[in-house]
Amino acid sequence: MLIYPSMLSANPAQLGEELIRIENSKADAIHWDIMDGTFVETITFGHHVIAAGRKLSHLRFDVHLMIENPDKHLENFSRAGADVIIVHPETCRHLHRTLGNIKSLGQQSGVALNPATPTNVIEYCIDIIDIIVVMGVNPGSSGQDFIESQLEKISKLREILPSSTEICVDGGINNRTIKECTQHGANSFVSGSHIFKSSNYASTIQQLKESCGQSKL
Ligand code: DX5
Ligand code: ZN
Repeated sequence: MLIYPSMLSANPAQLGEELIRIENSKADAIHWDIMDGTFVETITFGHHVIAAGRKLSHLRFDVHLMIENPDKHLENFSRAGADVIIVHPETCRHLHRTLGNIKSLGQQSGVALNPATPTNVIEYCIDIIDIIVVMGVNPGSSGQDFIESQLEKISKLREILPSSTEICVDGGINNRTIKECTQHGANSFVSGSHIFKSSNYASTIQQLKESCGQSKL
């Protein structure tokens, strides 16, 4: 079971220190929530922040683009050091082409499905998707409650996707919801507020892993 802390919930005045703390806490990747103030209300990090973070961390960087016209920014995030680039179908006029562009830049491709977005939007792109991100909350902020109807979506995706395709759940993850999502077929989890509100990131990450049945290494 893989845990990806979201830097959205880190202390913005200590972003570098927070990144190093997470790196030392057995996280499996770093999740960067990129928001443009249009697709979602908030504005967060640009590609310069990712490039600065890249100098401090060897972990996989997942860049979750919650921005309009993501195609315009793919190259910048690729050069900044993203390993995975995740887009929302609502922002891509030609989703298949965008995913192809991500792959030709050398990154792994991801698609994030909003709670109201059905699974069929990815039906004809499955062969070029490395990771599906099921949004457990509506995008835009951390600390929201998990939307239970997404469990059924996870099960549906597990049925239609090849076993090599990662199903990641983003939003509303805690020790209870992580277990339910795992039972429905998810393999990895983004967690923001649950980790960053805790006083010991390493033990919170370990508890999350144990909650879905993974014993202490
Ligand atoms: C929501 C973001 C999430 C968010 C998760 O728009 O995509 O990554 O940081 O935060 P929590 O874990 O607090 O729900
Ligand atoms: Zn996210």
